[in-house]
Amino acid sequence: MKSVVILISGRGSNMEAIVRAGLPAKVAAVISNRADAPGLKFAAQSGLPAKVVDEREFSSRGAFDAALEAAIERHSPDLVALAGFMRILGGDLVRHYSGRMVNIHPSLLPAFPGLHTHRRALEAGVKVHGASVHVVTPSLDDGPIVVQGAVPVLPGDSEETLAARVLEVEHRIYPQAVRWFAEDRVEFAGDGVVQVRDTGISTDSLISPRNT
Ligand code: GRF
Repeated sequence: MKSVVILISGRGSNMEAIVRAGLPAKVAAVISNRADAPGLKFAAQSGLPAKVVDEREFSSRGAFDAALEAAIERHSPDLVALAGFMRILGGDLVRHYSGRMVNIHPSLLPAFPGLHTHRRALEAGVKVHGASVHVVTPSLDDGPIVVQGAVPVLPGDSEETLAARVLEVEHRIYPQAVRWFAEDRVEFAGDGVVQVRDTGISTDSLISPRNT
């Protein structure tokens, strides 16, 4: 069975969704860059090895990245899943996990990389918004997209209502993507494109969070 290490910084609801999904993958550890990440509580309650690599204890990005890599490597994971991990990783670390580090981003990439995606989506007046799971590359919120889930932007939406609608989709697509990695279905087609074999997803299903 493949193993995954999940990196968090905060609430950890995506981590929880992955853990609760009962995937054919072992969650080997949860690692946080913040000691006060609320998600650490769920990890402990679930009996998962949890570790803090406190970013404040390191004077340079390189030193932090080295400590993080050592903490990850202790579990020799097949996949590293960034789940609300709010820290930009250095190129060396990202390259070390080339093709086997994924992230979830709360927008339909390549639209709205970076922060405050829901506010920016509302300001832009887009009618469809969503979330993306992508393979991590040294560029921020870039890299081959594995799966996306879309939701409508409704009249009267606030940042909060839209975020909640997108989060529901995140909790569906992230476990799905981890499952595909665990089942060896993810293929790199070249030119930065990922293909997933036999997803069972029909052509119109991505527009609705209910059908993915
Ligand atoms: C999610 O919206 C994720 O897409 C973004 O940060 C949020 C983390 O939420 N990168 P959680 O910690 O998984 O609850």
